[in-house]
Amino acid sequence: MAYISNDVINEIRNKTDIVDVVSKYVNLTKKGKNYIGVCPFHDDHSPSMSVSPEKQIFTCFSCGATGNVFTFVADFEKISFVEAVRLLGEKVGVSTQGNSFAVEKKDDYFEIYELANKFYQNSLFTSLGKNAIEYLEGRNIDKETIKKFGIGLSIQKVSLTDYLVNKKYSVDKLNEVGLTNDNGNDIFINRIMFPIYDLSGNPVAFSGRIYNTKDTSKYVNTKETDKFKKGKILYNYHIAKEHLKKNDTIIIMEGQMDVIRASTIGINNCIATMGTALTKDHRNILKNMANNIILCFDGDAAGEKATISAIELLEDTGINIKVVRLPNGMDPDEYIIKEGKESFLYQIESASNLIDYKMELLKKNKDFGNIKDISSYINSVISELVNEKDDIVIELNLKKIATSFNVNYDTLLDKYNDLKKKNKTVTKEVKPRKVYDKYGQAENNLIYYMLKDSKVINMVEKRVGYFPTKNIRQLSNEIIYYFHKYGIISVADFISYISDKEELLRTLKDILAMNIKEEFQIEEIEDYIFVINEYHKEVKINDLNKKLREEKDPLKQAKLSEEIMKIRGVKK
Ligand code: UTP
Ligand code: MN
Repeated sequence: MAYISNDVINEIRNKTDIVDVVSKYVNLTKKGKNYIGVCPFHDDHSPSMSVSPEKQIFTCFSCGATGNVFTFVADFEKISFVEAVRLLGEKVGVSTQGNSFAVEKKDDYFEIYELANKFYQNSLFTSLGKNAIEYLEGRNIDKETIKKFGIGLSIQKVSLTDYLVNKKYSVDKLNEVGLTNDNGNDIFINRIMFPIYDLSGNPVAFSGRIYNTKDTSKYVNTKETDKFKKGKILYNYHIAKEHLKKNDTIIIMEGQMDVIRASTIGINNCIATMGTALTKDHRNILKNMANNIILCFDGDAAGEKATISAIELLEDTGINIKVVRLPNGMDPDEYIIKEGKESFLYQIESASNLIDYKMELLKKNKDFGNIKDISSYINSVISELVNEKDDIVIELNLKKIATSFNVNYDTLLDKYNDLKKKNKTVTKEVKPRKVYDKYGQAENNLIYYMLKDSKVINMVEKRVGYFPTKNIRQLSNEIIYYFHKYGIISVADFISYISDKEELLRTLKDILAMNIKEEFQIEEIEDYIFVINEYHKEVKINDLNKKLREEKDPLKQAKLSEEIMKIRGVKK
């Protein structure tokens, strides 16, 4: 864990009861040893989530969500794991801050970025920052806004690298975190610096804009690092999230300047993609952020493209999507400057529903004097309406096209019903469950029982040479390591321990959601170990068989056969 030591995390977890915490969010009823309730992590009305007081974990057998008390709170509250630990720590009176026992050394990365951020902010207000301040004032960015967004300045004559080296950070480290180039010089020179924060609000990167020169690149961003991945970060997320408590709508824009401008007119629930396409990771972040999204990209053709792909990505999340298309190719920043606050607020308030926007889009490049075009338009509208859930919206839209194109309403309705029927049979969703062969099953079972009983850890450690699957291998290594370090293991604590190793956590969650039976016999463990070790034999034998088939020399052939038999355990 990056911030808080495992001892402290485990202490907080031990003082916290998952049933108490979960029941603050979800109604739970006791059923046997466990408690059950409606899972908040997927759209459902029947109770498919089970909370185990004994294991201190929750598992949804419908969507597969599972974890310990920290991951529950983090996912529910849309906060990071570390924030969830802090939150629950405060409740049980265990400090996670300012206490040398409680806090492991903070990652250098965050320290460096915090220092760099302050450094750039200070530089802006020195005499060398005069032109930059003038530029910002020219763009109507006042001191308060500069402070709010931590805007700073990089200056050629004032080396950040020197400053940080003086603070005992190595040039290599500065290079690694994306502030210093291979020659040991600053990456950012004479640019207005916009700090980019991760989801928890730590500065992890910069976007630097030119201001009084011409340069091929308007903005230069920190290279991707382990803490800064453009596809996983949204500009202004940490501030916007605070405002979502009052307003359940998030506005997505393209650029940081758009978000900053919006804040100057009191709109604080905006985030920016920083010019990249939205990713699946973004989608997951957004899904947990708000129930309503307004896409407010630049008014140009690129912005339209971005709008369409964002819709494709977000459509099936259940988030209510609306669209603003600003006129004359303007971006939100330009629009607000030119048309003013009231006009922009009106744009946001009158954002189009998804279906209305799509119907407008479908009109593009169609000649409504042409019957073929009309028919193709009507057909595509009906295809869109098939995905619409609101009956009233469907009826109103069918009526609208009936009147606009002078077509019989019943004809349209028949067409709609036909298509709807067809669609139902095609899109019946079957959630593909992962299928495991006997090796995979043995691996999953072993991991599960290792976390249940340290006897199994010992057996695996002594007798399983090597798990075939990479994630299982790493999980097993982590379990063994954890057990040796702490002398005791529980699945709930182990989840905390690997909470920052996404892939491992996912693998573990898959295993926990498999509903593997609780009780086991040692003989079963023996069998699983046998199966895993057989796997390696099989691989070797296959390999030798292949060689055997290619071998021409009878003497060598005999040797290979003998080897195969030896592995099989057959005596000559
Ligand atoms: P824009 O070109 O729309 O910039 O790029 P902007 O937001 O209008 O910025 P100003 O008003 O000219 O200052 C949108 C976003 O794409 C990223 C930046 O994050 C920018 O905010 N971008 C743009 C880059 O990363 N590099 C570039 O060279 C340009
Ligand atoms: Mn702009």
